[in-house]
Amino acid sequence: MPPKKGPKEPEVNVPEGDASAGRDIFDANCSACHAIEGDSTAAPVLGGIVGRKAGAEKFAYSKSMKNSGIVWTDKHLFAFLKNPSKHVSGTKMAFAGLPADKDRADLIAYLKSV
Ligand code: HEC
Repeated sequence: MPPKKGPKEPEVNVPEGDASAGRDIFDANCSACHAIEGDSTAAPVLGGIVGRKAGAEKFAYSKSMKNSGIVWTDKHLFAFLKNPSKHVSGTKMAFAGLPADKDRADLIAYLKSV
């Protein structure tokens, strides 16, 4: 469902991704903080993230994330994961970003599968 309000989707083209390659990228870059299910202590759980509102887990989010109005579509994830603090200024996600489009596309394909 499209968001009622909130920021417009970034104008990016998200290439087709490979979910199994994306799982390796998740393990290497994200799993130190994020789990797919279970515990949101270090970072919000990411199972079911595609299509979910930002800031919806039981987690002490930054105000920036909580109030971002984002619904996590492919395009929002593609832009956020390239440069988290540029897409959500003030986020407390301490991660520089994944520069390669293919890595982000694969990761999004994986996140859609969990
Ligand atoms: C150093 C720890 C850390 C790493 C590494 C990290 N994250 Fe995060 N992530 C966080 C934190 C903390 C938040 C909450 C940010 C906030 O509240 O501003 C977050 C938020 C998010 C959100 C928004 C969640 C929501 O419920 O709205 C997504 C999506 C996300 N991260 C994806 C990823 C992906 C994919 C990777 C790997 C490429 C990654 N993160 C790497 C700590 C991390």
